[in-house]
Amino acid sequence: MANKHMISETERITLLATAARIADMSGAAKSFYIETYGCQMNNHDSERIAGILESCGLVMTADKNSASVILFNTCCVREHAELKVFGNVGALRARKEEHPKLIIGICGCMMQQEAVAKQLYRKYPFVDFIFGTHDMHRLPLILEEVLQGKRVFAVSGDDADIAEGLPIHRLGSASTNVNIMYGCDNFCSYCIVPYVRGRERSRSHERILAEIKHLVKSGYTEVTLLGQNVNSYRSPDGAVNFPELLSMVNDIDGLQRIRFMTSHPKDLSDELIASMAQLSKVCRHIHLPVQSGSTEILAAMNRRYSREDYLELVHKLRAAMPDIEITTDIIVGFPGESERDFEATLSLVREVCYASAYTFMYSKRSGTTAAQMPNQIPDDEKKRRLYALNACVAETLEGANEKYIGTTLNVLVEGCNAARGNTVAYGKHFAYKTVLFPGDRDLIGKYVDVLIEGVTSNSLLGRRVE
Ligand code: 5AD
Ligand code: SF4
Repeated sequence: MANKHMISETERITLLATAARIADMSGAAKSFYIETYGCQMNNHDSERIAGILESCGLVMTADKNSASVILFNTCCVREHAELKVFGNVGALRARKEEHPKLIIGICGCMMQQEAVAKQLYRKYPFVDFIFGTHDMHRLPLILEEVLQGKRVFAVSGDDADIAEGLPIHRLGSASTNVNIMYGCDNFCSYCIVPYVRGRERSRSHERILAEIKHLVKSGYTEVTLLGQNVNSYRSPDGAVNFPELLSMVNDIDGLQRIRFMTSHPKDLSDELIASMAQLSKVCRHIHLPVQSGSTEILAAMNRRYSREDYLELVHKLRAAMPDIEITTDIIVGFPGESERDFEATLSLVREVCYASAYTFMYSKRSGTTAAQMPNQIPDDEKKRRLYALNACVAETLEGANEKYIGTTLNVLVEGCNAARGNTVAYGKHFAYKTVLFPGDRDLIGKYVDVLIEGVTSNSLLGRRVE
């Protein structure tokens, strides 16, 4: 469902004037394709970029080969994602030679690392424009210069004001994301995010509430509140904290479900746990990255909680909400991680019994403190630990899913896939699990009851009951 919400008057005038000029230019680009890497925040940025390009008269396409503008929205959290961008941009060289009018752009977190952005710009002279995460609102002007035959490099600092009111093309039709804050102040020793996304900045609660009310009017019934560390949300006037914001969102008529991510364990307060338990629309799910099960490694990561603190939080969450599902992120092979530390991570996974875990090999990011630490772990060993961890997660998941067999879950249908002549609908129940069942496209956006009859490690399988 495409959806445009309000932009400020100045921005609207600039956008429309530029869009009109672009549409008038001979040989103007007609369609665009965005390739997105990384997290939910990046996916959401891509929705905003799509909205801006549409306001410039371009049409989104899912076909990279026919697009007149190709844009890479990049991620720099791990080296692997960066290497993929270098490879995928490089692969366009021949196509650009054959089709000189093709426009190629790169944006996103990787561009906020000055050295990397400049390297890409130099190495690939066929790239037409580069812009940073804080320069999105300048996109129509950048595109206009590109259409005039210029190359543009537009990357500004990392603490920019929040640009409100940009157009947006939302890709989901049932559930959608709303940014409540940007940036991160935590400086976990392995992580590049605070350097590329800048300091924590929260949006005003009035704007957040107005955006959600508008979304509800457009037909959305579930929102996910997004931020690197939503628990430390504080409205710019200092009046509203995260539990209070949740309560205000919970009061919005017509909204049925609220999700949020990501939560930092050090900021998960008793007040928030109590709010989650008490507010009827807040889903029974929390994404609570643990990163490691070893207190020593957690200290070296600058996470500011111990293994025991984390387990205590899990205990409190489950005491307040017995049906809550917990998901997590885990890094293996952090510098100095001993076999004993790694075993501590495995035992924590068995103890917590996650609904899902995103597992990563530690990736050295230049500029972070962990990159300078001694005792970096060899790649082979990181791989071995990752496989062992994934096997451990899979084992715990199998048991955890079986408890749903025979129960009836209320599912918000998010989409539908065709498989061997049948259509399979999918969506999430009030906690976290993805539920699959035979169903058609016309169910998308509806809430249906599904009787669970089987499980896989990632999803629950069932059939619709009236
Ligand atoms: N190496 C591996 N994983 C990382 N993450 C962040 N930085 C790194 C890194 N340098 C992981 C963390 C975080 C998730 C979004 O990405 O687990 O929670
Ligand atoms: Fe990175 Fe830590 Fe901030 Fe998460 S909380 S974005 S891991 S620095």
